[in-house]
Amino acid sequence: MTIILAHRGSAGTHPENTMESFIAAQEFGADGIELDVHLTKDGNIAVIHDTTVDRTTDGTGRVVDFTMDELRKLKANYHYKHFFKKTARIPSLREVFEWMQGNDLICNIELKNNDLSYEGLEEKVIALIKEFGYEERIIISSFNHYSLVYIVNNWPDIETAPLYSDLLYKPWEYAKCLGAKGIHPKFKALTDTIIKATMEEGIAVRPYTVNKERDINRLLQINCTAIITDFPERAVKLRGK
Ligand code: G3P
Ligand code: CA
Repeated sequence: MTIILAHRGSAGTHPENTMESFIAAQEFGADGIELDVHLTKDGNIAVIHDTTVDRTTDGTGRVVDFTMDELRKLKANYHYKHFFKKTARIPSLREVFEWMQGNDLICNIELKNNDLSYEGLEEKVIALIKEFGYEERIIISSFNHYSLVYIVNNWPDIETAPLYSDLLYKPWEYAKCLGAKGIHPKFKALTDTIIKATMEEGIAVRPYTVNKERDINRLLQINCTAIITDFPERAVKLRGK
């Protein structure tokens, strides 16, 4: 059965990468969540998509120039007030992990270390995973494939998956070359033949971001490993629980 991963939580209905969005995803019946992480000025792991806080909060500036406490004061629903009235905040990865103690969701952590390198991000994320004993519940993805190989070489028990956006020749071979157990391509970079061949090679296929009913149905039909969607409620309804 195709696994449904809620992109930035239920980002189609709630402010992305907030606890409200993750809780909604769980309530909608998603099997897991996808989230994005950056390092803060004081070395915390913040859950936010962009390098700056400008698009998703009432603040301005780079995430790396804020402490975690300063980030928490920002309103993460600021630009979403028209559809979400409550004040939502930027969570830390620790906060998300604490909440995960009360459920059995999978968590796909995307390291946003392709623009800024964030020295020590991998170590901090892995240390937190190990502290909570979440080795079996986490998939680490990134557009920075050097970072993924670094993880595989140092912590082979942690599952990784490269993100990419263009059509790739034999992506299963590329995944194996990185030591990854899955691929996270942009949905448009896949054909049914590629999906089937990759899965036959034992490599999981989890495309992003699959939102339209017809696209979700197509992937459900070929039993794709997982889909990453902004609308977990829609995907769960189409798939069934
Ligand atoms: O994990 C897939 C997807 O989240 C990658 O793109 O920009 O939404 O982080 P983006
Ligand atoms: Ca992401």
